[in-house]
Amino acid sequence: MEKIKSIGVFTSGGDSPGMNAAIRAAVRSGFYFGLEVYGIRRGYQGLIEGDIFKMTSTDVSNIINRGGTILKTARSKEFMTDEGMAKAYAQLKLHKIDGLVMVGGDGTFRGAVSFFKKYTIPAVGIPGTIDKDLIGTDFTIGFDTAVNTAVEAIDKIRDTAEAHNRLFVIEVMGRDAGYIALNSGIACGAEDILIPECATNIEDVISRIDCDEHRRKNVHIIVVAEGDDFGGGRVVENIIKERFPQLDVRLCILGHIQRGGAPSQCDRVLASRLGYAAVKALVEGTTQVMAGVINGEITYTPFVNVIKGESPISQDLLDLIRVLSI
Ligand code: F6P
Repeated sequence: MEKIKSIGVFTSGGDSPGMNAAIRAAVRSGFYFGLEVYGIRRGYQGLIEGDIFKMTSTDVSNIINRGGTILKTARSKEFMTDEGMAKAYAQLKLHKIDGLVMVGGDGTFRGAVSFFKKYTIPAVGIPGTIDKDLIGTDFTIGFDTAVNTAVEAIDKIRDTAEAHNRLFVIEVMGRDAGYIALNSGIACGAEDILIPECATNIEDVISRIDCDEHRRKNVHIIVVAEGDDFGGGRVVENIIKERFPQLDVRLCILGHIQRGGAPSQCDRVLASRLGYAAVKALVEGTTQVMAGVINGEITYTPFVNVIKGESPISQDLLDLIRVLSI
């Protein structure tokens, strides 16, 4: 492989808190290794359209603490077509970009796998998604912040739930993964947590709800992952209302609040480590891999393996819910 002289950096898919810290780290590491650095706006879509600019070190000043992404992001349908990929490759050639640093989640790495089947250009990925649904890293950039945001919100809901003796169904994000639900639910002392990785038995959920005159708990919180197989928060709310008309039941869908805000220190440090690790790998000739952290160490996992399937949910955590919610 020829020595890389310039890299293009982009963020793609749903944004996640800490993406800016990853951009900063990749850009500054690029300069550290003597490379030219290009910013590609709006992910694969911006690449197709040539929305590309040469970056300076000051372009990434004062962004480590900011949510969102200064490079913007998008989900591109066009990139999944042969024409779209051909246009993207032509733009890389036109701008003489000979290495890519891509920050994103599952969709980004699926796109990468299709693209690199047809075109050859060195590329290293960085896991940036609140969902934590990638193989090859213990944590993804944005997950910690998103869980902290959910925890803060659920704690507030607990206050009002207690004041009214209410049962709350709280839906959190995560696409097909239940990590945000599991972690925020445990951290907030939820009575039940419904996640896509475990088939939901609604009769079990219902059997755990106190509703008679001996009711021990005046707050009952059920955290539901949006991708849960039973159908999400609204479906759960409806069935509980139907079965327990005497209970005061409310639904709160936390939604995109989980994607915004200043990244936590965990996400800033993770993003800084992975931004540097990605560029270093490119310079050393490693390609078609995602940089991650497993057991505290930097690792590189081929793109094809990153998207291979569900990362396992810890049985210990699942067992903990039943023990601590009695
Ligand atoms: O992948 C991140 C994520 O926030 C998921 O948790 C969620 O399902 C999805 O993106 C929402 O996407 P959008 O911002 O396009 O509504």
